[in-house]
Amino acid sequence: MSLSLDLQHLYSFFPKEALTALEGKATEAKDLLLKKQGPGNDFLGWLSLPEENTSGILDEINATATQLQKQSEAVVVVGIGGSYLGARAVIDALSPYFPQGKDYPEILYAGHQLSQAYLKELLDYLKDKSYSVIVISKSGTTTEPAIAFRYLKKALEERYSNQEVQQRIVAITDSSKGALRQLADQQGYKTFIIPDNVGGRYSVLTPVGLLPIAVAGFDIESLNQGALEMAQHLAQAEASENPALQYAIARNLLYRNGKAIELLVNYTPKLATVAEWWKQLFGESEGKKHQGIFPASATFSTDLHSLGQLVQEGVRNLFETVLHIEDTKYNLAIPHDAQNLDKLNYLQEKQVDFVNKQAETATILAHVQGKVPNILIKLDNLSEKSIGELLYFYEFSCAVSGYMLGVNPFNQPGVEAYKRNMFALLGKPGFEQEREELLGMINRS
Ligand code: PA5
Repeated sequence: MSLSLDLQHLYSFFPKEALTALEGKATEAKDLLLKKQGPGNDFLGWLSLPEENTSGILDEINATATQLQKQSEAVVVVGIGGSYLGARAVIDALSPYFPQGKDYPEILYAGHQLSQAYLKELLDYLKDKSYSVIVISKSGTTTEPAIAFRYLKKALEERYSNQEVQQRIVAITDSSKGALRQLADQQGYKTFIIPDNVGGRYSVLTPVGLLPIAVAGFDIESLNQGALEMAQHLAQAEASENPALQYAIARNLLYRNGKAIELLVNYTPKLATVAEWWKQLFGESEGKKHQGIFPASATFSTDLHSLGQLVQEGVRNLFETVLHIEDTKYNLAIPHDAQNLDKLNYLQEKQVDFVNKQAETATILAHVQGKVPNILIKLDNLSEKSIGELLYFYEFSCAVSGYMLGVNPFNQPGVEAYKRNMFALLGKPGFEQEREELLGMINRS
């Protein structure tokens, strides 16, 4: 197993026994989850995805990915929230910082916000490129991806024959319901199904995540294998040996002790999108009944030069979780400089990664001294397999953590509030009364 959890920097805040005391509660939450007896138990399909992803399923995804790769310089993934963050997290984490060569199509994203300039510039960028579209929406009615898809579909239709458009659009959606399902069936697009019992933020190991990841050239078998090994370990391990339960326990204890913010920190900038995925997973799962830890993220050492002061000496309402990657991919030693004006020769022949790791340890210790508790999640390396472990670890821990908090970690009723207001302000039929109320509020202010 690549992943391990290190809680040593909590012990100056709590005795080990305070964590052990919560193991019973965490085990109850885990049993509730595995016996499918807790709230939201109709959304537990994600638990068994790694074992249900047979080679037949993965082969079908890979075959579609190969076709998209062959015909496209770029593939646009259209989706928002749980329908795009998982794919993007894995692709960003595994891709080079500066991709070279044309082995795989460039992966672009659309429908994850409503910027008019972004959409226009994307369409302009695609003008001289061969491209395909993967449109992902479980409901098939989400405004942001629906608008982006309208434009991309129209642009494809203006350029290609009906038959070629059909080959250039893949829809991932519900098995029978929703506008996207209806359109895909009508137009004969290739489709993949988002299972009914898997919510958006837990869908990365369905075609929602796997197809774009495969198109980007990554090994979805290894990703799934990592998740499978983690799933087996978490289902069997006692609380004291179970990293997902220990992480949930630590967060629960910190929350009870006034730590309302968790700052997920990386020292590897390509993990920034993993943090975005993690924010949705924990934020949408726990933020209910006026409870929940606010998930925030930072990339160090970059953000030490902007947020460092606040973390070190600001309000003591946060804790830090560091995502540590042990192995680096390259050798890059700091060169000797004859003049040594920057006084860096004491570091000559040291790896840049060694300096980064010392920055990490130094920062953890400084923050602990500044009364910011720290959790360390360690991965041996960055690979498909280790990322698969990490994703499943987070999902399992999030579900246990939600049950420990007493909320349903699988629904998101609060997300509808902004949508109702937006539809009312946009004048969507059926929202007339809400519109009057909102206009009244605007006029009063
Ligand atoms: O987790 C969720 O349910 C949300 O983030 C959804 O995934 C997001 O709103 C997109 O919904 P849909 O896939 O229905 O377009």
